[in-house]
Amino acid sequence: MKTAAADQPLLPYTRKYLGSKRQLKDWLAQTMIARAGLPGSFLDGFCGTGAVGIAMAARGVPRIVAVDSLRSNCAILRGFGQACPRIGELLRALNALPPQRGYITASFAGTYFTESNCARMDAAREAIARMAARAEITEGEHDMLLASFLLAADRVANTLGQYDAFMKNISERSVVDGRHVVDERVQTAFTLRPLDPLPGRLEVMEEDMLVAAAHVEVDVAYLDPPYNHRQYCDNYHVLENLARWEKPLLSGKTLKFDRAGLKSPFSKRGKAAGALETLVSRILAPHVFLSYSSEGILQRDEIEAILSARGDVWFSEIPYPVFGNGAGVSARRTVKEFLFHLSVKGAG
Ligand SMILES: C[S@@+](CC[C@H](N)C(=O)[O-])C[C@H]1O[C@@H](n2cnc3c(N)ncnc32)[C@H](O)[C@@H]1O
Repeated sequence: MKTAAADQPLLPYTRKYLGSKRQLKDWLAQTMIARAGLPGSFLDGFCGTGAVGIAMAARGVPRIVAVDSLRSNCAILRGFGQACPRIGELLRALNALPPQRGYITASFAGTYFTESNCARMDAAREAIARMAARAEITEGEHDMLLASFLLAADRVANTLGQYDAFMKNISERSVVDGRHVVDERVQTAFTLRPLDPLPGRLEVMEEDMLVAAAHVEVDVAYLDPPYNHRQYCDNYHVLENLARWEKPLLSGKTLKFDRAGLKSPFSKRGKAAGALETLVSRILAPHVFLSYSSEGILQRDEIEAILSARGDVWFSEIPYPVFGNGAGVSARRTVKEFLFHLSVKGAG
């Protein structure tokens, strides 16, 4: 087995994530600041990897509130929240643990991860949970270890970046008959790496945005809801399962746990418009920015009509190259990314 190369600094968005604004974060941050000024507080709503909130923090916004309904996203982002002097020592101890067979090996060996990586992950995940239960680590240390664990797991996963499927071939040979059948990283040893804490005040909330909208007050709210029918809890169920560590029963070929409470109305054709209406009616900010794709469930005019109920709406769009449809198709094509700015009537 090869050893993982520490080739680039770990950031919460150094991973493949559907709809990540990693490539657009600077354009988004510049546009929002140009239109609304440098805010004292910023909501990264539906934060996913947190790429947009981090871009705003890098420009000097002192308070960032990030909200997402998935624990795995919140856990990763929270892990970058504070410096932990002991972290190097803790990571070294976890990386040195003897492999052990447990829930991860029984569930995912030979599918999403190699068997040997599953045993390394079982040893590390149990140790993190045990140290937290015995209060041997602080909350901040736990957050950082869990974030490092989830990013390390994602790095060696046998997927195309999302977990609605795993690649068929997980054997040692990554190239068969000249065809690339498995990412080389799948065969590298699962290894926890240190994280560089992010500057500024980062508050991470694991919450439904429809609930958070009614109590989080900020100067600028940025909203990036799912725009198609692909549920994030389906696409990231393995990371979510590892983050929650409740060891649920799994079913089906893709080994999912019961995600009934995690389905998003924004990914349902019949519910997306109503959900956006509710969200916009509740949001507590004088400036609201909304990202959406030209290929989304809702059309531009529907979105404008919903936003206009609260004030004046400005619109911009930017061409955005994507690979296939996100389900393993690799042809490159261009879609448009919409950005709406709602200046709320009677606010500020
Ligand atoms: C388009 S992605 C956001 C990507 C993000 N801006 C980034 O740069 O990584 C949509 C996110 O919304 C989250 N989500 C879906 N429904 C939600 C809800 N009702 N409340 C909070 N988050 C939700 C998903 O977990 C997903 O991370």
